[in-house]
Amino acid sequence: MNARFITLDGIDGAGKSTHLATIRRWFAQRQLPVVFTREPGGTPVGEALRDILLNPATQANLRTETLLMFAARQQHIDSVIRPALAAGTHVVSDRFTDATFAYQGGGRSLPLQDIEILAQWVQQGLEPDLTLLLDVPLEVSLARIRAHRAQDRFEQEDADFFTRTRAVYQQRAAACPERYAVIDGNRDLAAVSADVEAALARLFGAQA
Ligand code: TMP
Repeated sequence: MNARFITLDGIDGAGKSTHLATIRRWFAQRQLPVVFTREPGGTPVGEALRDILLNPATQANLRTETLLMFAARQQHIDSVIRPALAAGTHVVSDRFTDATFAYQGGGRSLPLQDIEILAQWVQQGLEPDLTLLLDVPLEVSLARIRAHRAQDRFEQEDADFFTRTRAVYQQRAAACPERYAVIDGNRDLAAVSADVEAALARLFGAQA
């Protein structure tokens, strides 16, 4: 069976962490080989870059920020994602390039075509087989973010930033419905989990 590359994305406060647990359980129940990883991060270099990128004290201009995201991603692809897939292990990544389009492109207004160029150069054709996009209204996201004790450099952004970020996620999903499962995260846990599980079941078909 071909190993699958699955990503989970959405604006801050959409409920990714909660639903990662659902995904872990789904794979564990089927005893499918899988690695769980995240961006920015997933490797020692990537985690060091994550510390820089999320630290509110970091002052990086937009192109630098974008290149650091892609630097972390390059290392992640080369050292974790491609080797796992080649070995027949499924990969679930908490965020991937959709986040760069949404946050640096939407939130910070970097031209999307610049991100496209970097994505092609870094990914060399690697694309997720399925992206689970958790979508929640702005008020829900902001209320959850504001409840965090220490907000990172992105969580400190304002409502307009997250409005633009969410819009780019939605546009990307609408443009490529076969790759995305857009899941309304503003419902009770069981309903959201059921949709996450249904999307995984569709991807794996009779194999799981
Ligand atoms: P999270 O993993 O807790 O969601 O935090 C990662 C933060 O980094 C989140 O606010 C989104 C942001 N981010 C970007 O701005 N661009 C990217 O390419 C990625 C992967 C994350």
